[in-house]
Amino acid sequence: MPNPRVLTGIKPTGVPHLGNYLGAIQPAIELAKTHDSFLFIADLHALTTFQKREQLIEDTYAVAAAWIAHGLDPEKVVFYRQSDVPEIPMLAWVLGCVLNKGLLERAHSYKDALANKGLTEEEVNMGLFSYPVLMAADILAFDTDVVPVGKDQQQHVEICREAARKLNLAYGDVLKVPVARIDEKVMTIPGLDGRKMSKSYDNTIKVLGTSEKDLQKKMVGKIICDSTELGQPLSTESSTVAQLYALFADQTKNDLFLRRAHAGRIDPDDASSEAFGWGTAKKELFDLLLERFRRDRAEYDRLMADRGHIDQLLQKGAERARAVASTILARVLTATGIRPL
Ligand code: ADP
Ligand code: TRP
Repeated sequence: MPNPRVLTGIKPTGVPHLGNYLGAIQPAIELAKTHDSFLFIADLHALTTFQKREQLIEDTYAVAAAWIAHGLDPEKVVFYRQSDVPEIPMLAWVLGCVLNKGLLERAHSYKDALANKGLTEEEVNMGLFSYPVLMAADILAFDTDVVPVGKDQQQHVEICREAARKLNLAYGDVLKVPVARIDEKVMTIPGLDGRKMSKSYDNTIKVLGTSEKDLQKKMVGKIICDSTELGQPLSTESSTVAQLYALFADQTKNDLFLRRAHAGRIDPDDASSEAFGWGTAKKELFDLLLERFRRDRAEYDRLMADRGHIDQLLQKGAERARAVASTILARVLTATGIRPL
């Protein structure tokens, strides 16, 4: 039995931050060890909200470089750019012909644009409206078994399943019906201000593509802490610094960090030793991040300086992806009568 096939897409919207790393990149790399893995950069989806040309180009490279720098093996995982696989938008057209407009009107991507982004029906572009159709094609073009996504994408996977079921009902058993895998356990990583770390809150820590100085001063240094007086015990319970430290330190290191913080002293057993305040705690976190990501940071910079190499890797990935998608698209085109047998 081949391993189950897992597929997921990432929108190229900036250099991934620590929340993306812990919530998406690391779990996907882990999953690739036991699954036949397809991972792609959803650049066509990114276009549904306006991007500046240079930004989209830059972000696509940044996302590719970040995933590889963090350990994705492009030999093992089929890693590609969505737009390099024209079979996907072609399948999307066919799926658009079996999905109902009413269902798409209830999709999050569209409702969110109307409700939260303040757009009117006149202003919403068709790409955004049919976002779930393209996403269904992303998934169905590869006979995917499992789609690991955040809770916000669950409904889109449901629409994908509906598309597969309707096509199968009309034309026989043509497409594999995938399942979503929602990992409830994935924690929400806090950002500089204690809210969920997110691009949209501008509260992120980016360990890649950031100089040491900026990482220390503009990111770790900007984590909001309480105003405990220097030398007094620090309360670590709801501290972002302590939470992030715990995510990256081994048990022994973390225990020492906590003992120091709770004593407010560098040497927790010596009340006359130097004070351990939030400044020192942040320096410890900064050192820990540097140590943990030293290799990844260097690899990211190396890749970003050699974009031809990233192009090559993505091109190779696209060839492998197209080999699979073209077979499945042919099956669909034949079943629907677009192609004779
Ligand atoms: P952002 O909120 O910065 O725009 P995205 O929505 O593009 O991030 O998220 C991309 C992936 O990273 C998703 O799988 C999402 O679940 C994960 N992710 C983003 N922020 C966090 C966070 N703070 N904690 C855990 N996972 C996160
Ligand atoms: N819509 C997803 C997001 O916003 C990205 C995505 C596009 C995707 N196509 C996909 C995820 C296919 C899983 C499978 O995060």
